[in-house]
Amino acid sequence: MRRRRAGLLLLFLLPTLAAAADPPWIARSRLGMVASDHADASRIGADILAAGGNAFDAAVATSFALAVTRPDSTGLGGGGFMVAYVAKERRFVTLDFRERAPMAATAELYAKVRTDAGDGPSPTVYGPHAVGVPGQVAGLAEIHVRFGTLWWPRLVFPAAELAREGFVLDEHHCAACRSTLADFEKWPALKERYGLLYKLHLGSGTPPQPGDHLRLPNLAEALQAIADRGAECFYEGPLGKMITYHLREAGGVLTMQDIASYRVKEREPVRVRYGDYEIVSMPPPSSGGLCLAETLNILSAARDRSDLHHATYGGHVLVEALKHAFADRARWLGDPDFGAIPTDRLLSMDYALELARRIKPEQVLQRDAYGSVAPPPDDAGTSHFCVVDRAGNVVALTETINGSFGSLIVVEPFDFVLNNQMDDFTAEPGKPNLYGLVQGAANAIAPSKRPLSSMSPTIVLKDGRPVLVLGGSGGPRIITSVLQVLLNVIERDMPLEQAIEAPRLHHQWLPDEVRFDRDPPAELVDGLKKAGQTIGDRPAVGIVQAIQILDDGTLIGASDPRKGGRPAGVEKITDQKKITTENTEGDEGSRD
Ligand code: DON
Repeated sequence: MRRRRAGLLLLFLLPTLAAAADPPWIARSRLGMVASDHADASRIGADILAAGGNAFDAAVATSFALAVTRPDSTGLGGGGFMVAYVAKERRFVTLDFRERAPMAATAELYAKVRTDAGDGPSPTVYGPHAVGVPGQVAGLAEIHVRFGTLWWPRLVFPAAELAREGFVLDEHHCAACRSTLADFEKWPALKERYGLLYKLHLGSGTPPQPGDHLRLPNLAEALQAIADRGAECFYEGPLGKMITYHLREAGGVLTMQDIASYRVKEREPVRVRYGDYEIVSMPPPSSGGLCLAETLNILSAARDRSDLHHATYGGHVLVEALKHAFADRARWLGDPDFGAIPTDRLLSMDYALELARRIKPEQVLQRDAYGSVAPPPDDAGTSHFCVVDRAGNVVALTETINGSFGSLIVVEPFDFVLNNQMDDFTAEPGKPNLYGLVQGAANAIAPSKRPLSSMSPTIVLKDGRPVLVLGGSGGPRIITSVLQVLLNVIERDMPLEQAIEAPRLHHQWLPDEVRFDRDPPAELVDGLKKAGQTIGDRPAVGIVQAIQILDDGTLIGASDPRKGGRPAGVEKITDQKKITTENTEGDEGSRD
């Protein structure tokens, strides 16, 4: 890959790792690859590839497996986005199966429930009002009916079996349990209100230990029902009915009509050129693609200014570019079906040049010089995986229930967790949300609207050919993590392993501080301080899964060691049938 002068922008991130044998979070294959944040889920996806399934089949199977192994991050009660490359048709497809606000969710209602909550936890974080209409199962069914080739039950069975047989808990899972338990200690009323989560996942106060075994037989029943009867049993059947029953009992407003009318949407991906590369990512209602594109454009524009090449300023320029992009996120972005977004301007090089000109080597601007959030009117946990198959189909899929264990509501008797995606809206005007984001009117709550996301499933092309697929988890840190890994690979020529391992910084405009995922190099901190940046002391960790596609067809899969995932490469194709993107085994279980 081509090295450029602009590589200096990232010089500070160059790790001192020596090339060595691959660590366990790296895998190589030429036959197909799944990189998820859980070993069992990657293995299940790779088995589908080995059995003759394509990348879309494997994505569906991986996602259902993650619904079992990562209940704090994703699952049947969540939603997500897919950016994919359909090799045979040489085109991209972008699916939005993000949660949607219930029809009765008005800004007035949320203002009232906030007042009623008093000093308790925010009602958009925990409880029935935190829950958006789940899109996950509809999204997977849509992927299958449009692009899958294997029989639907074949893709769901492995997850049902995993839930029935159980799996071994890792450090990430146990850490998520411990941190959720801390909230149960802070607000003891949660124990009674969310008793099933407390018992099922938090050991009734004694959190699980790494190495413990967890079986989820009720979730296995739910998955079996989805395998047998398809997405209807969620959107028109018992699963949906139990969701609304429990939410109604808890005082929520989400109805069966909300669930039955949920629809997946196809969107046009965001595409941006960066040097010899093209980056294809998720458009609104995610901010991911536009923030990545705007930041990359500013970096390209800054490249032409010689005073910004000095290594000391590399971190400063990146931080300034991020501040502009995140300020624009706050001001302009929301569900595109509810308000126009000035996409052309945000993506134009003229605009990027204008912003790059405002970057001064040793100076930061006043907060509002990056942008301002239009005040809203008065009435106003995630998992990413990538799949590449031997036919060249590429899937980047990020899914979320938002916070760790979402709303804390577990749907009896199926034992899946409901999301708290309503907190991704401008939940409380002027106040930071769960991820510290202060957002604007474009992202205000409205009936059936989709909350703004930071999820950034992304595919990078060179000469029209996919060379890298990646995405992440960690709220707004998804954007900064994906950006830095991407730049490490395409600009610094770092091997994928080093690109992911390298320390990362984060700035999201507000709060006005640069944060790091671990101790940053002292020289970088000094340079940033000298340039006027404020250094925060709390870590900001994003997680990235990626697959690199080398010229010789080798696939390198990487699951970020920060979360303990493992990629799985296909070792042998057991079914030699030629894989395509055509559905050859029927579409049982699909919806619409
Ligand atoms: O859609 C979003 O941006 C958030 N719901 C993502 C939350 C997240 O990544 C939590 N991760 N660990």
